[in-house]
Amino acid sequence: MNTEYILVCIAWPYGNADIHQGNVTGSHLPGDIYARYHRLKGNHVLMVSGTDSHGTPVTVKADEQGRSPKAVFEEYHARFLDLFKKLGVSYDLFTHTDTENHARVSQDIFLNLLENEYLFRKVTKQMYSPASGKFLPDRYVEGTCPVCGYTGARGDQCDNCNTLFESAAELLDPRSKYDETALELRDTEHFFIDLPALADEGLENWLDTGKDHWRPQVINFARNFVKEGLIGRAVTRDMDWGIPVPVDLPGFENKVMYVWFEAVIGYFSAAIEWAKNNDVPQAWRNWWYNPQARTVYFIGKDNIPFHTIIWPAELMGLRGLYNEDRDARLNLPYDVPANEFMNMEGRKISGSRNWGVWMLDALKRYDPDPLRYYLTVTMPETRDSDWSWQGFVDRNNNELVANWGNLVNRVLNMTKRYFDSVVPDPGELTEQDSALLAEIDAGFEVVGALYDACNFRAAVRECMRLSTLANQYLEATSPWVTWKNDLQATARSLYTALQAINGLKLLFAPVLPFTSQQLHGLLGADGQLFGRQMVTAFAESSREHIALTYDGSSAVGRWTRSEVPIGRKLPKPTPLFKKLDESLVSEELARLGTPS
Ligand code: MF3
Ligand code: ZN
Repeated sequence: MNTEYILVCIAWPYGNADIHQGNVTGSHLPGDIYARYHRLKGNHVLMVSGTDSHGTPVTVKADEQGRSPKAVFEEYHARFLDLFKKLGVSYDLFTHTDTENHARVSQDIFLNLLENEYLFRKVTKQMYSPASGKFLPDRYVEGTCPVCGYTGARGDQCDNCNTLFESAAELLDPRSKYDETALELRDTEHFFIDLPALADEGLENWLDTGKDHWRPQVINFARNFVKEGLIGRAVTRDMDWGIPVPVDLPGFENKVMYVWFEAVIGYFSAAIEWAKNNDVPQAWRNWWYNPQARTVYFIGKDNIPFHTIIWPAELMGLRGLYNEDRDARLNLPYDVPANEFMNMEGRKISGSRNWGVWMLDALKRYDPDPLRYYLTVTMPETRDSDWSWQGFVDRNNNELVANWGNLVNRVLNMTKRYFDSVVPDPGELTEQDSALLAEIDAGFEVVGALYDACNFRAAVRECMRLSTLANQYLEATSPWVTWKNDLQATARSLYTALQAINGLKLLFAPVLPFTSQQLHGLLGADGQLFGRQMVTAFAESSREHIALTYDGSSAVGRWTRSEVPIGRKLPKPTPLFKKLDESLVSEELARLGTPS
């Protein structure tokens, strides 16, 4: 079999707020399901992300709290690691952007682009606050969007229509987010990335070819973005929190790289860090300089321009970075399966209004797999979706408990009752038995193709359909009836059903890794389907950072059904899922604030 190199890139969450269900269903969970599927397939998966620690989202929070940006992002970073471990988001490396490695790689990319003349300097007018004696980052400015008229647009981007602004000066009636003092426009020099030149260099052609596997809303957005006309975009900022601009020019001493220019570089720098941490310092090349590798970016729709235009443009402008071949090019995105948004109980999720499910908190009350399941079946793949607590209870009780969990319970408990938990010898299988197993086997093709195409809702629906088939098979063969006078038929039925749930265990595993592992053990098998996640500290020359890592070396998972052998004694059955009480709906609703 041909093993593939798959780089799973997941949007870097800002280190300024806790992660809610919308973030998880938007990027972390689909990326994790995709990574786990490809690991089971035996492919070489590298799944990376980290905390986006620079930029104004973090400094705004720091200012509010009277703390340093570093203290702020490190606190959230530690909570992210805890969350991903508990929820089973299996990053090979979840690092952050305030490492020496990331700074060096970002500066090298900046210099490579500069040398290739894809960066140019220009004096611009920037909002200046005479009261505080400094330029105001675009995020500190608010005003009315000149495109759609939304009054709460930020100086860098309108969240309503996704328009990116070159400068906060484009806003109608720009005002400071914090004080009422007047703002004035002043001259300041910045570096710009030459998007028009990069569009001609190949960006436009790249967007126009071989994108049939892209989600229509993503590729259409990107093509329209180019069609509307590209302009150079500033990639430096007047700020002190960030990565210094690596040039020796007067006026640039107190400027840093624009956070968006630099954060997307994390996908690349994290692969390099991962390789270094694992003592295979060149291994990142298998994903970045191997044209056969697939690099897939899991993001929310607000991030589409950065992942389909800006980051590909940066990549396209590089020549021979860390390569003897002066002309070598890094891989462009293979796919950017951006998700739409998830709402909550019909309203927009909001941190400030406490309208959301804070995932680390929810994991104190619920097991990870039911949360993962609900967030998969409601994933906003094609349109905005909605989380409702009633929906969570219903899906858990009617699908996980009543369908898949009940199937497993019945099969394991009857095997215990009728055969003392020993896998029975079925003798010759009937057509009915073989037909069920053939359906499950075909599921590896069908469900596998759906996971591979990032159709996660459809994949899990197909798993549930197969579970329903297995339940129907059990009804039809009724081992609880045949047991009284035809033990051979009972053996055939339970043997077949045991094999079926052993296959379903793997089909469900990318979405339900914890309960699939539990079932793996209940079927008497050894070992871990997936690897282990751990929080690890890494030292660089001047600082240390903690990261989440994944060790897949002991994983035994595979993407075919294996046989649960006749005669194997199975352990005592335990249920995979718990029925949830309806009363939790009102309890959870009572925890929420007021919606917008
Ligand atoms: N932190 C940003 C966000 O959450 C950017 C994420 S993707 C990155 O929207 F690659 F640019 F970091
Ligand atoms: Zn707008």
